[in-house]
Amino acid sequence: MPDDNTFAAPVRDRTRPDRNLALELVRVTEAAALAAARLVGSGDKEAADQAAVDAMRHVLDGVPMDGVVVIGEGEKDEAPMLFNGEEIGDGSPPKVDIAVDPLEGTRLTALGMPSAISVIALSERGTMFDPGPCVYMEKIAGGPEIADVLDLDRPLGETLRLVAERKGTDIRDVMVVMLDRPRHEEAMKEIRDAGGRVRLITDGDVSAAMLAVSDNSPVDLLWGIGGTPEGVIAAAAIKAIGGAILGRLWPRDDEERQAALDAGYDLERVLTADDLVSGDDVFFSATGVTDGDVLQGVRYRGRGATTESLVMRTRSGTVRRVSARHDRDKLRALIGEDFYG
Ligand code: FBP
Repeated sequence: MPDDNTFAAPVRDRTRPDRNLALELVRVTEAAALAAARLVGSGDKEAADQAAVDAMRHVLDGVPMDGVVVIGEGEKDEAPMLFNGEEIGDGSPPKVDIAVDPLEGTRLTALGMPSAISVIALSERGTMFDPGPCVYMEKIAGGPEIADVLDLDRPLGETLRLVAERKGTDIRDVMVVMLDRPRHEEAMKEIRDAGGRVRLITDGDVSAAMLAVSDNSPVDLLWGIGGTPEGVIAAAAIKAIGGAILGRLWPRDDEERQAALDAGYDLERVLTADDLVSGDDVFFSATGVTDGDVLQGVRYRGRGATTESLVMRTRSGTVRRVSARHDRDKLRALIGEDFYG
């Protein structure tokens, strides 16, 4: 018999599908997306984030599990809910680590820009990388056919050449998505000098990582220094979609570097998706808040609303795209809370 830290069914039941927590998680990200979508274009990113956090927390409470938040809202946001270390669920099995980003792209939402999503990932207890004091991570991600040519130490221009070769295209066709940040100027020049193309995004490198590893994507590669929590969440998605991500902690200053070293982090270490989320049964759900390349955002139809989500589980390898229609009046009456706009 498995202990309560695994999701596996007892041996005699192996032929029957067991519980897929991702199907419960989709309600969690749908609720957060619906709540945040009301604030699209409001100019108030804190309010949008808070709405998503409140709705996510409310629905998460109803998921039977023994969860602890490893990747949460964090001290930076002084979050009263979904903070690192918070215990979630009714304490019943399974024991899981939880990574949440109730609103990935707070500024995108506040400004009504594309690709804001709500996202959650779960894996077996003790299997998610805890970034400790490190806020940023250098990341590179790409689809299955280029997974083995990804490298954080090789010059980017050379990697682009290998990507083009592997894909049977010209280096001038290769597209790299990256956050538009001054810290990326040198890398951007390297890509341009090599003849590659760049898609700059203002925020949202989880969504960008998912785009980079997807089939028929306009983007071949994600590169850049972005949030470490976002790196862990992207790794959970990539373990289900396929492809690869590599990450290396990137301290912002000497103080952060020293804090990381004191806490025992190896700053030279290149982390793979399996280092970032080592579990082999990872559940993931993301719901679009604003329209993007990966997911359609919330749309209002009369008293209803529609959402689109990606729901995945690594063990089965099933990736579902879930379109849902919501009756906001009924939800409000049922839940008794005004999360739904
Ligand atoms: P928020 O949704 O929390 O605002 O984060 C969005 C984001 O763009 C992430 O996608 C990215 O990893 C990180 O912020 C980059 O951080 P910074 O804006 O400090 O460069």
